[in-house]
Amino acid sequence: MSRLSADILRTDPRVREARRLLAGAVGDVQARITGIRAPDPALSVQASEAVQRWGELRGAPLALPYLGSGVGRGPFVELADGSVKYDMIGGIGVHFLGHGHPLVLQAGLDAALEDMAMQGNLQQTSLALSFAEELLGLANARGAGLDHVFFTTSGAMANENALKLAFHRHRPADRILAFEGGFAGRTLALAWVTDRPAYREGLPPTVAVDYVPFFEPTDPRGSTDRARAALRAHLDRYPGRHAAMVFELVQGERGGFPGDGEFFRVLMAELRDSGVAVMVDEVQTFGRTLAPFAFQHYGLDDLVDLVTVGKMTLVCATLFREAYRPPTGLLSQTFTGATASFRVGLAVLRVLRESDLFGPDGGNARVHLRLAERFEQMECRMPGGIRGPYGIGAMVAFTPFDGSATAARAVVRRLFEAGVVAFTAGHAPCRVRFLVPTPVVSYADLDAVADRVEAVIAQGPPGEGEVPP
Ligand SMILES: Cc1ncc(COP(=O)(O)O)c(C=O)c1O
Repeated sequence: MSRLSADILRTDPRVREARRLLAGAVGDVQARITGIRAPDPALSVQASEAVQRWGELRGAPLALPYLGSGVGRGPFVELADGSVKYDMIGGIGVHFLGHGHPLVLQAGLDAALEDMAMQGNLQQTSLALSFAEELLGLANARGAGLDHVFFTTSGAMANENALKLAFHRHRPADRILAFEGGFAGRTLALAWVTDRPAYREGLPPTVAVDYVPFFEPTDPRGSTDRARAALRAHLDRYPGRHAAMVFELVQGERGGFPGDGEFFRVLMAELRDSGVAVMVDEVQTFGRTLAPFAFQHYGLDDLVDLVTVGKMTLVCATLFREAYRPPTGLLSQTFTGATASFRVGLAVLRVLRESDLFGPDGGNARVHLRLAERFEQMECRMPGGIRGPYGIGAMVAFTPFDGSATAARAVVRRLFEAGVVAFTAGHAPCRVRFLVPTPVVSYADLDAVADRVEAVIAQGPPGEGEVPP
């Protein structure tokens, strides 16, 4: 039987031995990472200069003084200043398997043995096919009719591609519907879908967007009625002009605002009746709610036309129904993703499929519950210090002090110094959020993180000048 050279290479005893040695070397340095560690004074100055210098070169200071050393273990990450911190944000939701996971090392070594660092639309290996089958398998597990998937390199580009498919199918429609407070990315078109005027200051209008109010948990009935009425008014004002409505089912960048199944169903049904595509942006929600896709969590499988994923999948993707199949030339880019991204992303998809992450008693729910218990205790002990938690599953947020940007930024800074990497989200209120690497955290880790939050809040609201403007 003929064998591919690639298979001969992968099973070469020297390669096997090299893998064993590399795994051993990585394991040895990981064994040094046993918990949070303060910066090493011998490294701090150089690391701080590197952070300053990089901020200067990129033309904007880094949001956190974070430069990784390249080594980590589970929820722990070692930084260039020698400190070790709990990483509760994972580069805003990218590293769901934490740091230095054995599957990531294996995937990286597999990728290193291949002839191409990048996969693209013209030249690719069968990794693209495996990834497509795995992702579509997860997406259609409960009956959604998503037939196709197109890969790209960012969540924003996956959304751009979805919008193109919607505009093309519903041509000559020229408008989009989106939720108030939603986030969809930062391209010239998405700067208008994203409802944050500050993020499009000085940018020309590219796409006309009509906004619909989001779900309000304190008034489910009223907020559903208001959203439906707003949607109807937009559809009536511009008949036949809307190509799609963008659904961010849990508003992550706004600070962890979950929606509601019935609320979404009412709007999606209205859109379907009006011939407008239902596009669900799962760039942040994918893998983090109580089902692999948030549209499954909310039971909307029968209503979705276009779905986008990114972040933890590493390879970003637009999934779509047959009716949205593109003509030649509408979608294409040089790159679909790095070979290592395909391999690591595949490992993530398998973890999602095989681990106990979902359902009311799954890992994501347990993470949320554990932190919720701790935050509720803190709220009782320190009223006015903390409110929350908000979000769902592995998306966890809290409002510190008065909910001002200054308060949230100060708490993020203090947490960083105390050994926990978190980030801000939203405005009015501005929150602190975690995107928890569920597969690699224990209750002990969550408790240790909560202890740091408590200590930081106990310091009281930020003083004058604590956070730079
Ligand atoms: C809901 C949502 N959509 C799209 C994006 C954009 O993804 P990317 O930053 O990979 O372009 C993000 C990023 O935070 C997001 O949260």
